Amino acid sequence: MRRITDLPKVELHVHIEGTLEPELVMKLAESSGVDLPYANADELRRRYVFTNLQSFLDIYYDNLDVLRTNHDFSRLAYEYAVRAHAGGVVHAEAFFDPQAHLIRGVALDTVVDGLVDGFARARSDCGFTADLIACFLRDRPVREALETLESLTAIDAPIIGVGLDSAELGNPASLFTEVFARAAALGLRRVAHAGEEGGPESIRQALDDLGAERIDHGIRSLDDPEMVARLVAAHIPLTVCPLSNVALQSVDELARHPLPELLAAGLHVTINSDDPAYFGGYAEDNYVLVAAAFDLDDATLADLARNSVRASFLPVDRQDEVLLDIDRWLADAHPT
Ligand code: ADE
Ligand code: ZN
Repeated sequence: MRRITDLPKVELHVHIEGTLEPELVMKLAESSGVDLPYANADELRRRYVFTNLQSFLDIYYDNLDVLRTNHDFSRLAYEYAVRAHAGGVVHAEAFFDPQAHLIRGVALDTVVDGLVDGFARARSDCGFTADLIACFLRDRPVREALETLESLTAIDAPIIGVGLDSAELGNPASLFTEVFARAAALGLRRVAHAGEEGGPESIRQALDDLGAERIDHGIRSLDDPEMVARLVAAHIPLTVCPLSNVALQSVDELARHPLPELLAAGLHVTINSDDPAYFGGYAEDNYVLVAAAFDLDDATLADLARNSVRASFLPVDRQDEVLLDIDRWLADAHPT
């Protein structure tokens, strides 16, 4: 088996704030004089025991307090990019949560300019590319999401699309219909978290009410064969995050993850990390661990990587380049 590290892949489901490693939390807190309620990175990491999505989100939002300056956001993006690239990720469509920073009093251009700067530095250092997708927080008011979209437009933020994240249960996607309609009118791509903790109805709303072109997670689509058939027929990709599903106890262990069922159903499955600093691994680790758990061969791994490329919003010529590199990876693994 060729090293999975070398398999070129695209990451479609990573929250840039979820790449904030405990060591970086400590360093940023020190440089900005933030007082933390724990002594070191290991002590923080020991708190990363989650029972569900909300128990994770509570810590994730608390940790954002250390992200304050343009430089902090730049460093966050740069460190993720370099690390992901070392694991074979050639391009990422990275989520960020503008509202989570605005409500803390951090200006939108501080966030956006910092992330853009970090990704630009990574591009010139290692060739890694990234696009940004602004996510709205579904447990915050709809009006705030609309205002955030207008603010992003006002500063001409270089985003390729919008998403919907945060607590799924009790916060239906249908509330955000107007926000996503406005985003579509602005020419933005649309994705949404659905079917992570919520059932098929949550996915239906993401598709019908938001016009989502990809479903983030979507594993609970398996609860409804009609929804599976619809996703297959419409070629809607799922950005599946196996280690996240285990860490947040949507699935009790990796060996019982529904990845094999999703693949057998003919769904357009991609493998991603979600919040790698919290869930025990980056994109590469997710590939490696599912390969081991389900004894996936190189051809299947190459198919998963191809899915990530085809599900991306990259221009077709760049997609074709990466697809060729995947073909080369597979050919090297099995010379004729
Ligand atoms: N925000 C960051 N990670 C998330 C996840 N896995 N689900 C919903 N919102 C999130
Ligand atoms: Zn997510």
